[in-house]
Amino acid sequence: MNQSNALQQVVSEHFSRAAAQYDTAAQLQLKVIKKLANQLLPEFKMMQANKNLHILDVGCGTANLLQFLPSPFAYTGVDIAEGMLAFSAEKFSYLAADNQLAWQLADAQNLPFEENQFDFVFSSLAWQWCDLEQVLAQSYRVLKPGGTLIFSTLLDGTLCELNQAFKQLDNQIHINQFIDSQALEQAINSQDWHQVNAQVLTEKTHYDSVYQLLKELKSIGANTVSKNNQLYKRQPLTKNRLARLELAYPRQSNPVQTIASWQVAYCQLRKS
Ligand SMILES: C[S@@+](CC[C@H](N)C(=O)[O-])C[C@H]1O[C@@H](n2cnc3c(N)ncnc32)[C@H](O)[C@@H]1O
Repeated sequence: MNQSNALQQVVSEHFSRAAAQYDTAAQLQLKVIKKLANQLLPEFKMMQANKNLHILDVGCGTANLLQFLPSPFAYTGVDIAEGMLAFSAEKFSYLAADNQLAWQLADAQNLPFEENQFDFVFSSLAWQWCDLEQVLAQSYRVLKPGGTLIFSTLLDGTLCELNQAFKQLDNQIHINQFIDSQALEQAINSQDWHQVNAQVLTEKTHYDSVYQLLKELKSIGANTVSKNNQLYKRQPLTKNRLARLELAYPRQSNPVQTIASWQVAYCQLRKS
């Protein structure tokens, strides 16, 4: 197995295992998907008046986008984690009477669809483990001309407090390596996208301890660490190292809380 396949396999296993508890733990992901869905909805509703729309949700996870879409629509959820797809199909089976729902096990970097098929491609916080140029090229290929891509992804500076605390322990990599805004811009410019609208917002989540933050990452399946799109194997965290991590975590708030920062890019692009 090559390094990239090894990464996809571990990502898939972690997310499959997390499917059942994902919705109760994914505080950042639920906040971000709501914002992104609100960005999508005005255009979606306007176009829906004239035709039956087909939307592709790449890295759909537990398919929370479906909570926001007004019926009728055709929806295809793609994920690399079989467990996520099975969970979502069951969770949203009640929508199948009024809408067309399809679930597809696939890698975002190699979508098994013909070109020019979808009115919208949507993706929230799923592309951190992918080559962004590749997933953008795939989205461009499967969108109809004039179709819209709306996605969010995490950038450099995400979990900076945790990163800083780990640096007091050793020189290893402990959190996923995120691209910076120049790399995002470069990836977007590698296709002929029109009407680019991109903004980066710092989102914050709150915990009682670093242990809770790490537990949340594991509960949602987001505990795979990659560097340059390759799997990075970490040392397990012993009790002693965890205690040192709690002490090293930068905290300024009053009352003292463990706050995590996330650099979230929200992007909307149109295929020319
Ligand atoms: C943090 S979850 C986000 C799920 C959902 N979009 C949300 O916002 O709640 C990331 C999802 O992306 C999926 N994923 C990660 N890498 C992928 C890839 N290369 N192809 C398809 N799905 C992928 C994971 O299996 C997981 O379900």
